[in-house]
Amino acid sequence: MIRWTSRAAPCIRPIGAERSAECAAIHATSFAYPWHEADFEQLFVASGTFADGAIEAKEEHLAGFVLSRVAAGEAEILTIAVAPEWRRRGIATSLLAPHMAGLAAIRVDRLFLEVDAENSAARALYARFGFEQVGERKAYFRTAGARLAGALVMRRDLL
Ligand SMILES: CC(C)(COP(=O)(O)OP(=O)(O)OC[C@H]1O[C@@H](n2cnc3c(N)ncnc32)[C@H](O)[C@@H]1OP(=O)(O)O)[C@@H](O)C(=O)NCCC(=O)NCCS
Repeated sequence: MIRWTSRAAPCIRPIGAERSAECAAIHATSFAYPWHEADFEQLFVASGTFADGAIEAKEEHLAGFVLSRVAAGEAEILTIAVAPEWRRRGIATSLLAPHMAGLAAIRVDRLFLEVDAENSAARALYARFGFEQVGERKAYFRTAGARLAGALVMRRDLL
């Protein structure tokens, strides 16, 4: 489903600590309790972190990213976010497909994530990729206004 319009279509490629500030900026537009640049720097240097970014072609800006942590043959998507101006144009889809293929290529057999039960956009995205609910955590995410939202634990077999 590629739907990026235009000459400035992003390309998908692995990213590292050099993109920490941009990841933090996109995260801040996406979540009530954003991670800071230093949080991303730490994640990027930690072993087992794999991240892919959608790099907008014109200015080489980051349009979105997905970041996972691998341990003992399993992986967890820690975060995925797309800059608001790039949403609903196929960026997350274009990120997830090669990201999952890359994890499978290093013999990761199961991929997990936790999603806010009220996040219908993300839930629709994960359903499209074949994730299935395998658990639920009550009062898990802090939302704006300090209300706690439940999380669904999702799993997708890769091998
Ligand atoms: C969730 C998110 C990553 C989706 O990124 P995106 O690039 O807009 O997603 P895509 O364009 O690839 O959309 C793929 C599919 O996901 C679903 N989807 C995406 N956004 C949606 C929305 N706002 N409402 C309903 N479904 C949506 C649709 O099924 C969509 O396919 P369609 O456009 O053909 O209907 C983006 O909305 C985002 O960054 N949100 C804030 C951060 C977040 O919630 N991350 C997930 C945390 S678990």
